[in-house]
Amino acid sequence: MSSAGSHGLGHLTPHSAPGVEDSIFDALATAVVMLDPEWRVISLNPAGQTLFEASIQRTRGMHFERLVDLDDEWRSLLLQVQSEHFATVKREMPMVLHSGTQYCVDLIVSPLPSHTQPRLLLELNPVDRLNAISEDAHVREAQESMRKVIKGLAHEVKNPLGGIRGAAQLLARELDDSKLTEYTDVIIEEADRLRTLVDRMLGPRERLATRSMNIHEVLERVRQLTEAESDGAIAVERDYDPSLPEFEADPDQLTQVILNITRNASQAMSGSGRITLRSRARRQYTLGGKRHKLVCSIDIIDTGPGVPDSLLHQLFLPMVTSGTKGNGLGLSIAQMIANRHGGLIQCESKPGDTCFTLLLPMET
Ligand SMILES: Nc1ncnc2c1ncn2[C@@H]1O[C@H](COP(=O)(O)OP(=O)(O)OP(=O)(O)O)[C@@H](O)[C@H]1O
Ligand SMILES: [Mg+2]
Repeated sequence: MSSAGSHGLGHLTPHSAPGVEDSIFDALATAVVMLDPEWRVISLNPAGQTLFEASIQRTRGMHFERLVDLDDEWRSLLLQVQSEHFATVKREMPMVLHSGTQYCVDLIVSPLPSHTQPRLLLELNPVDRLNAISEDAHVREAQESMRKVIKGLAHEVKNPLGGIRGAAQLLARELDDSKLTEYTDVIIEEADRLRTLVDRMLGPRERLATRSMNIHEVLERVRQLTEAESDGAIAVERDYDPSLPEFEADPDQLTQVILNITRNASQAMSGSGRITLRSRARRQYTLGGKRHKLVCSIDIIDTGPGVPDSLLHQLFLPMVTSGTKGNGLGLSIAQMIANRHGGLIQCESKPGDTCFTLLLPMET
């Protein structure tokens, strides 16, 4: 916790006749709430009304406790500002609304002078939903340890595999009988198959070929490929935010990420159905413990039966599959590429509505 000194919004008087100050108060993207000395709501701007899921008419005069679950941390923070007369900044403060919705907010609490105890001005910026943060950390840890195991295993498998293949080739040269060379062919083919599998498990090349790119070019390429592969049986709908700026990324690898997800969706819908590709910007979003000003969010939504419950929590680990044909590698590779971009893939699924979300930082 740190002190921020007196705060610039202290002069705002949202009760007075409408003026420039009121329109600033109303236009702020930051949620602002003013409390009287007993912590009853005096004023709440529109961003605050959205955050607290309540109108100013309903909340005026209401105790703040009826909007937010005031645990010890919240109470001592508000009391401290009132007694010490200093604005205080608190980053990533958990906040639970009366409705049960959980948020994580960056919070500034400033004292506003009054003739008795100070009133309080609260500025709140939601960072993320709490569960998104913990999931993020959990997924990353699991991926990291799995990657180490695979790297070690791949090394141990690939060396002897080269030896087996070479020996089978030498042996084939010594054999005249075509019946016997059929066996050496099997050895060579299977060794090659295993090598390809291990290479796929290791994932795409480490280095990204990044350039400034428009994410919609990638989405359009995926849309055309998906429609072509399904012979038109899968309709791909677009819901793009055209104002998304270009950002640095590897377009080929991102195409692979989104294709791996759309192919799963096509397979889950048995080759016919609807996929929606949606692009949006998210502001002030934390990914992998790092706060980003602007994050690009891509939703890939399908109308299939949904991810089986038994797979939901391990979906992004290699070799997790429900299919007989797949290797269970598509999503682990996609997650690996997203991580290399500093991003992340999340999934929410119920029958008829499965959504994979790719989040990528846009450092412009
Ligand atoms: N959109 C989806 N709807 C339903 N289930 C899905 C969806 N996407 C993934 N799954 C489930 O997740 C599993 C893992 O997917 P993943 O892409 O990692 O492997 P795979 O498709 O089985 O094999 P591979 O991609 O290596 O060919 C799938 O087998 C499937 O059961
Ligand atoms: Mg797949």
